[in-house]
Amino acid sequence: METVVSGIRPTGNLHLGNYFGAVKNFVKMQENSNAFFFIADYHSLTTHPTPVNLHDHVRSVLAEYLACGINPEKACVYVQSDVPEVIELYLLLNMNAYLGELERVTSFKDKVRQQPENVNAGLLTYPTLMAADVIIHKAAKVPVGKDQEQNLEMMRTFARRFNRMYKTDYFPIPQAYNFGETLVKIPGLDGSGKMGKSEGEGNAVFLVEDPKSIRKKIMKAVTDSGPTMPNQEKPAVIQNLFDLMAVVSSSDTVLHFDALWNSCEIRYGDLKKQLAEDVIHFTEPIRERILDIYKDTDYLSKVTRNGAERARESAAKTIKDVREIIGIRKF
Ligand code: TRP
Repeated sequence: METVVSGIRPTGNLHLGNYFGAVKNFVKMQENSNAFFFIADYHSLTTHPTPVNLHDHVRSVLAEYLACGINPEKACVYVQSDVPEVIELYLLLNMNAYLGELERVTSFKDKVRQQPENVNAGLLTYPTLMAADVIIHKAAKVPVGKDQEQNLEMMRTFARRFNRMYKTDYFPIPQAYNFGETLVKIPGLDGSGKMGKSEGEGNAVFLVEDPKSIRKKIMKAVTDSGPTMPNQEKPAVIQNLFDLMAVVSSSDTVLHFDALWNSCEIRYGDLKKQLAEDVIHFTEPIRERILDIYKDTDYLSKVTRNGAERARESAAKTIKDVREIIGIRKF
């Protein structure tokens, strides 16, 4: 069975874009792979060094993952900081990671621009920690979005370099796994393109959001002045709303509004009202599960304890082998 690893930083709540972009696929992948899904709390310290309540962020994201259907009986679900073996591998990989290549990573350069007051070593070595996350389980596949491509390339470089330097074929070279055709882009509500937590208030619909707030956000979504000719191509802001509808509404609903668009009889207010109700219909059961799971400290503690145990078992084996390969031995 193929091993897959993926992680998410606990820096915000999951939104519809996360759900349809990745989480839905994790749920599918846990069925027929040896799946590890973890909360990258160490990684979040590279941008949020003194979080007000890191533990609570980890709890939220964990509850959200589980509420979406990630099943801890199938996938190994754990918190990065519960698996110290990852950090040992991170240190060992850092010995063969070079300043020049790390400085050239686009996401590092972006962060330097965004937080010039905090260009820390963790930020620079973000890709080595990410590589350690993945190759600690000797994973073959990493399901990530396009934004992580370069981090993935670095990961491959580090795995290849380890094999070359220590004359071994120990680490498989991990591959990006883009879910084939099922990776859909979920547009945001502000007309700027992608749904994302960093794009500003009003852009993303969060899974944990209450119906009233969802209605308000969707009613405020950007539109235009309406079609002027039959069968006109939709401008991006309108296509965005239809794209969202395509994932949450029935095909009849989509066809209905499409026909109204084509005959220039569409009323955006009606479309948004319907869209809001369909989004709520979709998110409400997830939200209820999030709130239940979030409160259930016993359950969360059991899941993370089991997850850490399984992850550490896998990780410890790798560290034992890696120490042996490098020549770190007991007397
Ligand atoms: N960098 C990823 C993100 O920001 C999170 C992450 C950390 C990750 N370690 C990983 C993803 C390992 C996949 C594999 O989304």
